[in-house]
Amino acid sequence: MKLESMSFRYDGRQISVLDQTRLPHEQVWLDATEPRQMIEAIKSLRVRGAPLIGLAAAVALAHTAQTVNEDEVRTIAGELRASRPTAVNLMYCLDRLMKFAPGQMDAGQMLNDAAELFYEDQALCDRIAKHGADFLKEKIKVSQFKILTHCNTGGLATAGVGTAIGVIRELNKQLGNVHVFVDETRPLLQGGRLTAWEMAKLSISHTLICDSMAASLMRDGRVNCVIVGCDRIARNGDFANKIGTYSLAVLARHHGIPLFVAGPSTTVDLQCESAKDIPIEEREAAEVRGVTGSFGNMTWAPAESPVWNPAFDVTPHELVAAWILDRGVYTEPAVMVEEMVGSMAKTERRGL
Ligand code: MRU
Repeated sequence: MKLESMSFRYDGRQISVLDQTRLPHEQVWLDATEPRQMIEAIKSLRVRGAPLIGLAAAVALAHTAQTVNEDEVRTIAGELRASRPTAVNLMYCLDRLMKFAPGQMDAGQMLNDAAELFYEDQALCDRIAKHGADFLKEKIKVSQFKILTHCNTGGLATAGVGTAIGVIRELNKQLGNVHVFVDETRPLLQGGRLTAWEMAKLSISHTLICDSMAASLMRDGRVNCVIVGCDRIARNGDFANKIGTYSLAVLARHHGIPLFVAGPSTTVDLQCESAKDIPIEEREAAEVRGVTGSFGNMTWAPAESPVWNPAFDVTPHELVAAWILDRGVYTEPAVMVEEMVGSMAKTERRGL
């Protein structure tokens, strides 16, 4: 079995991940075959992005299931699950693999399921890109799309073309003149390091900005829409994404600019009614007191200064113009949920 994406490789014996903390200056592939290596890689954001962490964890679990017993698999699944709390894709992928009854683990089936999830994600990304581009061309009549995006939602963060970046690259493929403003995304700089790198690789015209510059950019009329990814969407349409997304949503509303959220339907958590049910990961103070990465480690804040470092924030549904999913584009979260529940019921009836 062979699975390969921009930042993930599995050849049936070894799992390798592109260390995203060292991009863009160094491209270092790390061995993450052992589940504990994978857990470290996910916690430290060497492997990151909601879809990818779910897929990487699933492959790691399925691979290890070939050699250890069911009890050990259950323990490892629990540890993988706890590695990052906000992105529901991690729980979704692990649940898909762990759906067997006690004593009935089938390691071969788990590997097939992990591969299926991987290929499924590629197909979901393609559909998000297509639906998003069609919808935006129809709804926003401009001679040039000038899109502001946040964090990194591309090939690095998924098995395929990405979510928000997938939409952007499809639009650019069709129109040829898209310009992207890339928010640098403090504290871990996924925009400045990863999205800027992906934009350059894709030859998409872009400008990097510090997060605090978005307001002036919008006021000056230099942006006509905001497109971001998501880590969890609640039933009412509230969604969690990288910290700073909510600020963009408030700014966008103030300036009359539509904000779109793009993601696979595996990011919709039907168990969450609203934002208040979404757990938000809090991370190390050192990430805010300074920077760490291949560009060096530097601390500028006093070591004793208390820090608050939530990795994500939640954007209320009323600030979202549309939810761009693989199933289609929704302007009403209730319709999105109704369709999802309906198709789940159909699948159950067919006994799948
Ligand atoms: O902490 P990260 O870098 O994993 O956060 C990633 C994001 O917030 C992305 O926007 C989200 O996971 C969607 S990736 C397609």
